[in-house]
Amino acid sequence: MAEPEPIGPALTRATERLRAAGSPSARLDAEVLASHAVDRDRSWVLAHPEATLDAEAAARFVAAVERRAAGEPVAYIRGFKEWQSMRIRTDRRALVPRPETELLADAAVAEIERRLAASDATITAWEVATGSGAVAVFLARRFRTAVALGRVRLVASDISPDALELTAENLAEHGVSDTVSLACADLLEPAGRSLPRPDVVIANLPYVASDQVDARSGSLGHEPRVALDGGPDGLAVLRRLFGQLETRARPAATVLLEIGADQGPAVAALAPRGAEMAVVPDLAQLDRVVRIDLPD
Ligand SMILES: C[S@@+](CC[C@H](N)C(=O)[O-])C[C@H]1O[C@@H](n2cnc3c(N)ncnc32)[C@H](O)[C@@H]1O
Repeated sequence: MAEPEPIGPALTRATERLRAAGSPSARLDAEVLASHAVDRDRSWVLAHPEATLDAEAAARFVAAVERRAAGEPVAYIRGFKEWQSMRIRTDRRALVPRPETELLADAAVAEIERRLAASDATITAWEVATGSGAVAVFLARRFRTAVALGRVRLVASDISPDALELTAENLAEHGVSDTVSLACADLLEPAGRSLPRPDVVIANLPYVASDQVDARSGSLGHEPRVALDGGPDGLAVLRRLFGQLETRARPAATVLLEIGADQGPAVAALAPRGAEMAVVPDLAQLDRVVRIDLPD
């Protein structure tokens, strides 16, 4: 059991340990892990350097710092990530949702709203490769009423049963389990069941090249390979999705994809024939989301 000690010096030591282990955000990580250990928010930790960590909290803090020093993402250690102002449960079963994926979720909301305003038809929005389910939870909370009124149908799928288990937990935690149909599916091909063809496809597919996944270090090394590995050029899963669109998506469907910042031109070259494509840059003006409108 660790000795009780004031938070201030414990933070300093943890920061040094994490810096030596190569964490790019050592001080911030230490503060967040200390707040986790004492079950208070970070501002409380910063305002009370003199407060004593009792032996149990000190032990929790040391254990958390050692996990972080071994490269584990802070979100796995805490068990959640703040994303789109929601608390999303996170663990080794799925990728930690990234800040840049908020742009994809916002684009999905805007497209579903545009379609709701344009016609009375029921809109099926399908999030492929849902992982932790962060985007699906966000859409379910936003369109809960539209789903209840039969205006929107939401589907979320993943090929990984482990990830889907976590998705289900996150949907339940946010009280929206009955708003989203979950499916184990290879992209738009669910195993052994038929689902409505989507009007809107939303996907953050694995898009890291396999050799970069082989060489990964730090936090990435703790996340599931299936969530990252996009084949030799990072685009293999996306190519397969494009190959399914003609038969699996509705005519005139919109496909919203998160891509790697340097993948815009390559994705444009692969876009299905007759489709229109536009890139939505993020705040740093990096290519981040691709919008593809399929022909009628
Ligand atoms: C980059 S993660 C995205 C997770 C989540 N949507 C997010 O943005 O945080 C990619 C996800 O794709 C899933 N995946 C990989 N290959 C797939 C396939 N062929 N069909 C469906 N899902 C797949 C992985 O299990 C993983 O959950």
